[in-house]
Amino acid sequence: MRVTEIEKNIHQLSVNVKDILFEGLWEIPKGVSINSYVIKGESTALVDGVCGWDGVPESLFELLKRIDVDIHSIRYLILNHLEPDHAGFLDAFKAIHSDFEVICSKKGAELLAAFYDCNVPVRTVGDGDTLDLGEGRILTFKEIPNVHWPDSMMTYDTLSKTLFSCDAFGSFGIMEQSPFDDDYTDEELAEYEKETIRYYSNIIGAFSPLVIRAIDKCASLELHTIAPGHGLIWRRRLQKILTDYRGYATYHKGNAREEITLIWGSMYGNTELAVRAAIDALEESGIKYHLHQVPGSSWGDVLASAWTSSGLILAMPTYEYKMFPPMAAVLEELGKKKAYGRKVFRFGSYGWSGGAQKELEEIHEHLKLNWSFMEPYEFKGRPRAEDLEAIKQRVRALVEAVKGS
Ligand code: FEO
Repeated sequence: MRVTEIEKNIHQLSVNVKDILFEGLWEIPKGVSINSYVIKGESTALVDGVCGWDGVPESLFELLKRIDVDIHSIRYLILNHLEPDHAGFLDAFKAIHSDFEVICSKKGAELLAAFYDCNVPVRTVGDGDTLDLGEGRILTFKEIPNVHWPDSMMTYDTLSKTLFSCDAFGSFGIMEQSPFDDDYTDEELAEYEKETIRYYSNIIGAFSPLVIRAIDKCASLELHTIAPGHGLIWRRRLQKILTDYRGYATYHKGNAREEITLIWGSMYGNTELAVRAAIDALEESGIKYHLHQVPGSSWGDVLASAWTSSGLILAMPTYEYKMFPPMAAVLEELGKKKAYGRKVFRFGSYGWSGGAQKELEEIHEHLKLNWSFMEPYEFKGRPRAEDLEAIKQRVRALVEAVKGS
């Protein structure tokens, strides 16, 4: 838990969470910070909240105590979105303090009624609406639907030029030393970016066109600070996170980075023999590549790698006339997260008959992935020298296609 004054009369309250599956699904090996902000004018507002993953708000109360904010002085609870990682404390909060108003989007009010039991006064706001806290501190709001939930909005403090951006510009990963980007080297931020890409691809990627719209909405704001609901606060390199996020959003269409992700599975080691040949060809080419075996790799890792890769290599055998099942599951998830437009080469072994390729084509068709496929390569049983050489040739061709894109 940490409290930091980020501007005069604005504090960040932050709690680190580890050893959970985010959304009950995504592994977060480097944890995640949940950030909340206290803004003081004549009135006090709390933007989002922090709580344990079980919705218990003890950490919020403890953090408020550290900055001498009496919970009863909080007049406004601004809920940038109603997802329980930020709003799960609401029922417990209401049990202690009843004289406050919730500020959220219209859609947020619907979700509040659906997810929480408390009956609280709600003021709905939309683009350009304002909330005057007194002492010159006027907040305005910008709706950013589906970044991440449909009710998502950002809160902007016109006095300090701070944008409380909700999930936008957020990241997984816990940075213990400081909540500010200024306190890290470029090398440290390059490491951190891996967690940002994991967060983006796992949580927000499916809504990429709306992320671009949200970033465009920021263009009309004078920004000194971006303070997200997860991860670092951006000040010195504020333009970097805006540019990076726009980049991640465009990757969903394909033509991402000059990288290839090789996802593979093997039953008895025959496809694996061919995978080794493919890796040799990738090594020789010098291209950056990511390697994931299924089952075994987490979906979140695979998705993060595939998100930045313009090229995919899919290596899997046929299993009972279909694709090796864990590969099918991962590809479905890639498709649902809308990793479109990739250049793809698929190879693998079969025994009784083929079938993996047909299922791949079905997945491609029903998820409308718009992938460009190179000619697939299948071999019966164990790959022979000529099979390995043919696979290497196609990997080299894929590398050229990715480099040329
Ligand atoms: Fe902070 Fe939408 O999760």
